[in-house]
Amino acid sequence: MSRILITGTSSGFGRAIASHFLDRGWEVLATMRTPSAEGLPASDNLRLLPLDVTDASSIADAVAEAGPLDALVNNAGVGMLNVLEGAEIDRARELFETNVLGAMAMTRAVMPGMRARRSGVIVNISSSVTLRPLPALSIYSASKAALNAFTESFSLEAAEFGVRARLVLPGSAPETSFGRNAVARMGMDVPEAYGDFVQACFERLQSATEKTQAHDVAQVVWRAVTDDSAPMKLPAGADAETWFREAGRSAA
Ligand SMILES: NC(=O)c1ccc[n+]([C@@H]2O[C@H](COP(=O)([O-])OP(=O)(O)OC[C@H]3O[C@@H](n4cnc5c(N)ncnc54)[C@H](OP(=O)(O)O)[C@@H]3O)[C@@H](O)[C@H]2O)c1
Repeated sequence: MSRILITGTSSGFGRAIASHFLDRGWEVLATMRTPSAEGLPASDNLRLLPLDVTDASSIADAVAEAGPLDALVNNAGVGMLNVLEGAEIDRARELFETNVLGAMAMTRAVMPGMRARRSGVIVNISSSVTLRPLPALSIYSASKAALNAFTESFSLEAAEFGVRARLVLPGSAPETSFGRNAVARMGMDVPEAYGDFVQACFERLQSATEKTQAHDVAQVVWRAVTDDSAPMKLPAGADAETWFREAGRSAA
């Protein structure tokens, strides 16, 4: 039976990815900071493990406990909705610890096993914000752009040993707790001078008709893991697909 470890499965995309792989007969190591089976299907193939991707000993314990892996999905992530002047640099550092260094540390931890077996797939959950610049998302977008660059470069090293690395770029998914979690963890103290500007930006974002659903992301992660010929970057969700096509046209 194939075995996958997914980070950040307490909610949103991570939970949907875990369910998708369980439904298709995979053994799923669903990891989260505070383990709970809430929202996940009951299954003998489901194992919950505690994991904080910013904590080196937590990573070492989870990877040792997990055993040999066919796939890793670095899904854990934090958002930040604010203009640069409203963002505290300590919070930005914390965000990079999770979104960038957390994914790097997890990748580094599973790589010896995958390299020795000469097989495995690592899928990093990036964002469609790397396809089009948006205001009030500069720090978050920078973290996902760093994740993209890391993954594209690392994939060349990993390919030497039969290991694939891929990026999934979801669009905006208001149905997940992402925005709420971002505000709870990172605050949203928008400086007064930017108030009207930020309000107008959020209204534009909220009025978008195309959206991403958690199951769109799960399906695209499934493709990234199971299809050897999947391209490096895969958009997930109707809005991400539109932006991906438009970014391709403007690059041509
Ligand atoms: N929703 C969107 O609009 C959107 C769009 C594009 C990309 N994304 C990306 O998709 C991924 C999942 O987002 P989501 O929408 O599903 O948001 P979410 O519901 O807030 O889920 C984020 C998950 O990451 C976990 N997490 C945060 N910090 C962690 C840490 N230090 N160690 C381990 N787990 C940690 C959270 O767990 P706790 O319960 O422990 O906090 C939670 O399970 C993120 O990487 C996000 O950047 C989201």
